[in-house]
Amino acid sequence: MEKNSKIYVAGHTGLVGSAIVRELERQGYENIVIKTREELDLTQQRRVENFFEKERPEYVFLAAAKVGGILANDKYSADFIRDNLAIETNVIDSAYKNDVKKMLFLGSSCVYPKNSPQPIKEEYLLTGELEVTNKAYAVAKIAGIIMCQSYNKQYGTNFISVMPTNLYGENDNFDLESSHVIPAMIRKFDDAKKNNEKEVILWGTGSPKREFLYVDDLANACVFLMNNYNDSEIINIGVGEDLSILELANVVKKCVGYKGDIVWDKSRPDGTLRKLLDVSKLQGLGWKAKINLEDGIRRTYEWFRENKKS
Ligand SMILES: NC(=O)c1ccc[n+]([C@@H]2O[C@H](COP(=O)([O-])OP(=O)(O)OC[C@H]3O[C@@H](n4cnc5c(N)ncnc54)[C@H](OP(=O)(O)O)[C@@H]3O)[C@@H](O)[C@H]2O)c1
Repeated sequence: MEKNSKIYVAGHTGLVGSAIVRELERQGYENIVIKTREELDLTQQRRVENFFEKERPEYVFLAAAKVGGILANDKYSADFIRDNLAIETNVIDSAYKNDVKKMLFLGSSCVYPKNSPQPIKEEYLLTGELEVTNKAYAVAKIAGIIMCQSYNKQYGTNFISVMPTNLYGENDNFDLESSHVIPAMIRKFDDAKKNNEKEVILWGTGSPKREFLYVDDLANACVFLMNNYNDSEIINIGVGEDLSILELANVVKKCVGYKGDIVWDKSRPDGTLRKLLDVSKLQGLGWKAKINLEDGIRRTYEWFRENKKS
């Protein structure tokens, strides 16, 4: 990408899209196009076609998606598969028809089979059963990957697909009903600190292991790959290390400054025991995550404190 290339970031109000816009601005890209959902509902084919015909972006980051936690994914699975298939079909086809030079499609680690060997290599895609609770979402994401690969093969486009691990950071969702583990812990410890509560109850045993990437690192990797990766094969983005939920809870507790105890509610399910991406392909290209977990959680907590009223 040139510094004056026209770059459309779809989903710029979200966790990932907002970080990609910040990273592009930080690197001096000066011609970024963004549209709110009210201005451009990406599930509406005609509106997406009109937008691409009028704006003719040269590069596209597709970070718009209907995203949610386990409960929402399970309860509203029809909405998840319909909206995500529609967004992907509309954006990918319009990008092809309007000669977009390159597009980066955001997938997710949930596309991999639930019983994948660890760490998870890119080649494990479509080798086994998916996790049942977010199957509809994962199938839509897999369709997006196959669409990108098929357009590249049939039409000679340059559409790449990246699979990030669990993300956290600025603009995350802190709603306890639908949030991921790090924002949920930040919120619980912060509430307990404020209310002088003696203990915080967390779900499960604390023993499952997970990998977490700060979203600014993800955005840096996306811009890096847009400039340096031209292959139809998917590529993982992660840190290459994991830690237990118990260890994570202690890091979050320290960053928030909560002094009470953690109690594990072992009647709640633990989920998959381990989920770690193999990032050797990305590291082989020369990219590595830079922000360590404690720094990332401190930054996220600062953002949460500044923005929690809104
Ligand atoms: N968060 C993670 O841990 C994680 C991990 C791996 C991969 N990813 C992938 O990264 C991508 C973005 O995730 P995220 O966490 O940034 O999600 P998010 O915070 O929920 O953001 C989603 C974005 O998409 C927009 N959007 C949704 N439906 C739309 C529609 N019909 N028309 C226009 N815009 C629409 C949202 O706009 P509104 O503000 O109007 O809702 C928002 O800007 C997804 O593909 C996800 O699978 C995320």
